[in-house]
Amino acid sequence: MTTDTGELVAKDKAHLWHHITQHAIFKQNDPLIITEGKGMKVWDINGKQYLDALSGGVWSVNVGYGEKRIVDAVSEQIMKMCYFAGTVGTVPSVELAEAIVQKMDGLNRVYLSPSGSEANEKAFKMVRQRAALKFEGKKHKILYRDRDYHGTTITALSAGGQEERKMQYGPYTPGFVEFEHCCCYRCPFDKEYGSCEIECARAVEETILREGPDTVGGVIVEPITAGGGIIAPVKEYLPMVRQICDKYDVWLIIDEVVCGLGRTGKWFGYQHYDIIPDIVTTAKGLASSYAPLAATITTEAVFNEFINEPSDPASYFRDISTYGGCAGSAAAGVANIKVIEEDNLVANSRDIGAYFLTQLKEKLGSHKNVGDIRGVGLFAGVELVVDCQTREAMPEGKLVEIVGHCMKNGVIIGRTNRSLPNLNNTLTFCPALIATKKDIDTIVDATMNGLIAVLGR
Ligand SMILES: Cc1ncc(COP(=O)(O)O)c(C=O)c1O
Repeated sequence: MTTDTGELVAKDKAHLWHHITQHAIFKQNDPLIITEGKGMKVWDINGKQYLDALSGGVWSVNVGYGEKRIVDAVSEQIMKMCYFAGTVGTVPSVELAEAIVQKMDGLNRVYLSPSGSEANEKAFKMVRQRAALKFEGKKHKILYRDRDYHGTTITALSAGGQEERKMQYGPYTPGFVEFEHCCCYRCPFDKEYGSCEIECARAVEETILREGPDTVGGVIVEPITAGGGIIAPVKEYLPMVRQICDKYDVWLIIDEVVCGLGRTGKWFGYQHYDIIPDIVTTAKGLASSYAPLAATITTEAVFNEFINEPSDPASYFRDISTYGGCAGSAAAGVANIKVIEEDNLVANSRDIGAYFLTQLKEKLGSHKNVGDIRGVGLFAGVELVVDCQTREAMPEGKLVEIVGHCMKNGVIIGRTNRSLPNLNNTLTFCPALIATKKDIDTIVDATMNGLIAVLGR
């Protein structure tokens, strides 16, 4: 492998297709090539150092870079036994399944796959197959929420509430129906919390009734919306949605692809809300992206729907995923969970996350273009507006400039990225769970400097 900087940049420009990137920019600029990571820091090919407040750009390196305990576990495992199909168990897949369910109350079965999109596809297939087995195919519709994202495949996008991510990739899989988001700052019902009677949760029931309860089999939501703008619902929301799902015999699927594994200061985001979902999906932080790993986790009741007469070929969950059988990925997951436990990273996410939110509010809260600051654990968003009275969204280009300013100054922060038409106006933060107060101070100061440089005081 070459280490020559110019040669690598030339090869990148010649052959690598970067994700969600307009390559015309590389006529003027060189692509960023990251070469090394340690803790919360990464270095690029020119030796420039960055503090990464995004856990690998897409909120996934939860325990930070260069974690030897995970590297050793993966290395030992793949030397001993690298792979066998998920039709059988391997030592790490069995251990991982147990380790995951020990963190979840009431869920008990773990189905492994390599990505968040796929984990959600499994959940959708479970709903569809249950409809076929029990309801002559009728109860097959799946409701999803505006502003939520559940993945990149055509069917995961069919369940996506982010119009800009979906545009031009249709036609979509039928049977997915959208309902309103739950962001109080931009209440879709023009109501105020306190007197709203949680209309956003009631919208789930209205949608089920409109579609026909006998046609709806599942509801999927993120516990805290990630890419749609870091939106934590009010405390009543998920318990109400849970009740509505129970009333109409609808499975509640909670997408913890981002929020799982300590991100929000609890092992899973739904645990802030005192509910038990029927299905949970999780990925990114499950192996802290040291290896591709995702899981679809169900209650025993969901699992039991697929236990039937063995001679009937249509009676069990007939899904398979080659890379769901990678023993190295499972070993990374087991070691990752151990690291989070040993280093008390869930508590750190809660405590340093609380400090982070306070600092964001204290230092950025009074800026003329800061409309709303929200977050839970080490997961936060700052919504920018042109005017705090009208709440007109700041154009996305300004956020690109702010993020670019931080980057130039060695701090990687994020933004809602081509997700919602005219509403890509939230700066996003998702530092590794090992973050210290000093890291947080650096991130908050860099953001404030970026805001002032681009928008003035
Ligand atoms: C909430 C949520 N669900 C699902 C996914 C899809 O995961 P993956 O990119 O691993 O397919 C993402 C990716 O960002 C996500 O944010």
